Amino acid sequence: MGLFTKKPIHSLLEEAGDSEKGLKRTLTSGSLIALGIGAIIGAGLFVRTAAAAAQNAGPSVTLGFIVAAIGCALAGLCYAELSSSIPISGSAYTYTYATMGEFLAWIIGWDLVLEYAVGAATVGIAWSEYLNNLLTQVFHMKAIAYEWCHSPFEHSIPIDGIVHTGIINLPALGIVTLLSLLLIKGTQESAFVNGVIVITKVSIVILIIVFGWGFVNQSNLTPYIPEPAIFTDHQGIQHHFGGIMGILGAAGVVFFAFIGFDAVSTAAQETKNPKKSMPIGILGSLAVCTVLYILFAHVLTGMAPVEFFRTDGKEASVVAAINTFMPGYAWLGKLVTVAILAGFSSVILVMLLGQSRVFYSMSKDGLLPATFSHLHPKFKTPYKANLIILVLVGGFAAFVPGDIVGDMTSIGTLFAFILVCAAVIILRKTNPELHREFKTPLVPLVPILGIIVCAAMIFGLGWTNWARLFGWLAIGMIIYFGYSKKRSHLKDK
Ligand code: ALA
Repeated sequence: MGLFTKKPIHSLLEEAGDSEKGLKRTLTSGSLIALGIGAIIGAGLFVRTAAAAAQNAGPSVTLGFIVAAIGCALAGLCYAELSSSIPISGSAYTYTYATMGEFLAWIIGWDLVLEYAVGAATVGIAWSEYLNNLLTQVFHMKAIAYEWCHSPFEHSIPIDGIVHTGIINLPALGIVTLLSLLLIKGTQESAFVNGVIVITKVSIVILIIVFGWGFVNQSNLTPYIPEPAIFTDHQGIQHHFGGIMGILGAAGVVFFAFIGFDAVSTAAQETKNPKKSMPIGILGSLAVCTVLYILFAHVLTGMAPVEFFRTDGKEASVVAAINTFMPGYAWLGKLVTVAILAGFSSVILVMLLGQSRVFYSMSKDGLLPATFSHLHPKFKTPYKANLIILVLVGGFAAFVPGDIVGDMTSIGTLFAFILVCAAVIILRKTNPELHREFKTPLVPLVPILGIIVCAAMIFGLGWTNWARLFGWLAIGMIIYFGYSKKRSHLKDK
C-alpha cells in the first residue's frame, strides 16, 4: 500500500463504537468544557504574555491575542466538524489519516508530539518559575538555586556582575512525573481534580483583571504599537519588535495560550455523546478564554513598562508585576501563585492525556509499537505510553529552555491546525454523505482563512523556529520509513 493510503471512515467509526473493549466513556459536554479550559489557561497567559510584550510587541500584544484568537476560532470550527463526524481518539492525526493518507497522518501525529509533549514540558518549566515564588513569598523560604531550576542552555541576567548557568530543571521534572502517575490512575479521577482547578483558575484571572484595572497607566500603553526595531535578549537571540512583524511574532508566541481546546477532541472516545458534546466543548472553552485573555493582556501591559518584563519581571511575570506595581495587593500575588501552580498542573495533565491518546491511536494503527496501546488491566489507561511519554517530556522539561520549547509548541500546533483546516475541505469532497452533527460554516472560506491566519503566525515566529520544525519533521520521516511504513495495519487490508 502507498504513502497516501487512507484509513476508511467506516473502520474509524467501528472503532469509535467499540468502546466496550477499550477506553471507558465517562465525559459529558460540561466536563469537556472544563477539560478545555483546564488545558487552555496556563503558561501561555501567565508567562508567554509578558515574554511576547517584552520581545515582540509591547502593549500591542493584545492585538497579537486577537490575531491568535481568530486563527484558533477558524481552526476550532474545523476541529468541531471533524471531531463530531469522526469521534475517535487521536485528534488531527485521525482526521488526516482518513482524508490525506498515511504519510501525512504520520507527519501530523509526530508533529502533535510538539503540541502535547513539548507543550507539557513548557508548562512544567513555567510551573518551576512560580514554585520559586511560592517558596520565597508565601513560605518565606530560600529560592531553589538557579542551577537546579534552569536548563543547561540558560544563564541568568547578571546581578552584581555574577551570572549563573543552569544544570537541570528539577521542579519541572518533578511535576511532570507526579502528573504522569496521576494519569495512569485514570481519566475520571483526573477530570474531577481538573474541574476544581478550572474554577480556581478562572476566578484568579477575573480577580487580576478587576483589581489590576485601576493600576493601568496610560504611559505604558503609549505608543500602543511600538516603532519596528530589532530587540536582542540577554541570551543573544534577536526578535522583531514593534510594527506588524512584532504583532505577528507576538501572535505566534501567545498562540501558546490558546493551545488545548483541540485536546478536547482527543478525548472523543471517552465522551458519552461525542457528536453533540465535542463542538460544545471545543468552541465553548475557546470563547470563554478569548474574552479573558484580551482583558488580561490589556491590564498586564498597562500596569508595567515593557522594560520590566525584560529584566526583573522576566520570570513569574504576572506575580512580579502585581508585587511591584499594585501596592497593597501582596495577598493577590500570593493567591495567584498558589492558583497558578494548580492551574499549570491541570494544563500539564490534559496535555499528557492528549499525547498518550494520540500515541494510543498511532499504535492501534501499527505505526507505533503495540506497547503504546496496552491498557492497564485495572485502570484501563494506556499506562506504558504514559511512562514512555514521561521520559520524553521529562527530558525536555529538565534540559531545554522554556522560550525554545514554548515556540516549538506553537509552531508545531499551528502546522497541525493547517492540516485540520485542509482536512475539512477534503472530507467534504471525498465523503459528502458522511453524517456531520456540526458543520463548519462557509466551507471552503473558513478553512482557507484558517490556513492563512495560522501560516501568518508561523511566519511571525521566525526562521529559527521554522528550522526547528523542519528538523523535528525530518526525524519523524526517518522513523516512518525505517519502522512505521512496514508495520502499518492498513498494509494487510
Ligand atoms: N494553553 C496552554 C497554556 O497556556 C498550553 O499553558
